[in-house]
Amino acid sequence: MGRHKKDKHKEKKHRHRSGQTAECAEKKAGKLERERARAHFLDGSTGPWAKALAAQDARESPAAEEADPDSAGTAHTRRGPDYSMPSSIDIVADPVLYAMSTRRSISKVDPETPSDSDLLELIRAVSSVADHKGLRPWRFLILRGDDRHRLGAALDEAAGVVREPGEVNRKPLRAELLLALVCSPTEHEKVPEWEQRATAAGAGHLLELALWQAGWGVMWRSGTLANTPPVRRLHRLEDSELLMGWFYIGAVPERYRQRLASSTRPLPRPEQFLDTL
Ligand SMILES: Cc1cc2nc3c(=O)[nH]c(=O)nc-3n(C[C@H](O)[C@H](O)[C@H](O)COP(=O)(O)O)c2cc1C
Repeated sequence: MGRHKKDKHKEKKHRHRSGQTAECAEKKAGKLERERARAHFLDGSTGPWAKALAAQDARESPAAEEADPDSAGTAHTRRGPDYSMPSSIDIVADPVLYAMSTRRSISKVDPETPSDSDLLELIRAVSSVADHKGLRPWRFLILRGDDRHRLGAALDEAAGVVREPGEVNRKPLRAELLLALVCSPTEHEKVPEWEQRATAAGAGHLLELALWQAGWGVMWRSGTLANTPPVRRLHRLEDSELLMGWFYIGAVPERYRQRLASSTRPLPRPEQFLDTL
């Protein structure tokens, strides 16, 4: 480290240790507020009221929580929304918003996978996806073990690829578990097919988020061969159905986990996604 850098480092360390600068005090207060809010969020008080409850805690017993910030909010046992408070949004303290804003696809996953009963729990959470008229126009298919070789063979057949004996298409082997997402629309006079596809896509995005939050790595892949006849046949799709790709699922490699802990990916500027008429 150069002399200048060293000095800066020292200065920073000193500032941090003494906690005397206004900046430091402000940061500390902000951190404490976040910890209090997070405690409420984690306690089940998800939503706008968590911050208000945290502020209430701070007013009622600031000294106790300064001494033991871990205890913040534990006195409250109320669970779920109450909708009586005005909105307050914190994408760091709120675990749902935090998971949404930090989610990433993991292209190379380790072999460990969620069990089928884990998958059922995740799907249970995903099934709250917004769905016009509740048509449930989506389902997932589990592909493990030899299913992936059969998928490789179907992809080869679709692409007209002939391999040497003993050689296989390794693409579906990039994870031990694949979930195929199928959009299964039904005819409905008020719900056009595109809306049903939007719901199925929503289920896919929720699944990615649910897996991320549960600590699993996932990447959604499709490719140009997904709806070719051999691949559709393998998945036993009805004519009206659409294969929306596969979720490649596994454990997050240790090396990657370390990187995730120490780096955050900058999010795009939100202004570009929001406009008025
Ligand atoms: C419907 C859908 C299909 C996708 N298909 C592929 C694919 O075939 N190959 C690929 O490299 N990425 C594909 N992606 C993109 C990745 O899943 C991922 O979103 C992208 O690499 C960006 O990474 P991120 O999710 O961390 O932002 C697809 C995404 C979606 C939503």
